[in-house]
Amino acid sequence: MVLQAIATYVGKEQRVPYLPSSKNQTLNTMKLLEGRTGRLVDLGSGDGRLVFAASSAGFQCTGFEINSLLVAYARSKALWTGVPSSQATFVKKDFWKTDLSSYNNVTAFLAPGVMGVLGEKLLKELPGNARVITCRFPFPNWPQRLSVGSGLDQTFAYDIDAVRSHLRISVSAQ
Ligand SMILES: C[S@@+](CC[C@H](N)C(=O)[O-])C[C@H]1O[C@@H](n2cnc3c(N)ncnc32)[C@H](O)[C@@H]1O
Repeated sequence: MVLQAIATYVGKEQRVPYLPSSKNQTLNTMKLLEGRTGRLVDLGSGDGRLVFAASSAGFQCTGFEINSLLVAYARSKALWTGVPSSQATFVKKDFWKTDLSSYNNVTAFLAPGVMGVLGEKLLKELPGNARVITCRFPFPNWPQRLSVGSGLDQTFAYDIDAVRSHLRISVSAQ
């Protein structure tokens, strides 16, 4: 109820509205992170559900979220469920203005209209061994390595080294 109210409010104010990941999206994201370790960032972390799922799988997670009510909610949830800040940190910050080069795992459930420009930012900043997982909306011109689920729950995984090689090949073939 409270989160629905936040969703309505945020939906009017932001280019990318708040819409929480479904259970299946979260499960699909975790499947695509199997075998991975290290630092993970969720771009637009909402109520923190992807961050909490990833932190319980052992990732050191950061959620960037622009809406302070959602940041407060996620921080409170971390407190009352006993998740330490070394495993899950929620930062009120615009991820477009944040350097993401220290993350080797990225999750994003955003909107189709931002995926092109997000792809450019990630290609500039991420280390070669990074994996990017996107929920529902794929990158327009990236080859995907894996995808799980279907319809609204479809989730896509991309490895940055492979994407860079593919894009270099595509450009040089033109
Ligand atoms: C579709 S929701 C996804 C929430 C969460 N990741 C999940 O999967 O449940 C997108 C979130 O991105 C946040 N957001 C939009 N633009 C942002 C920005 N520039 N910086 C940080 N957060 C942003 C919105 O407030 C919203 O909570």
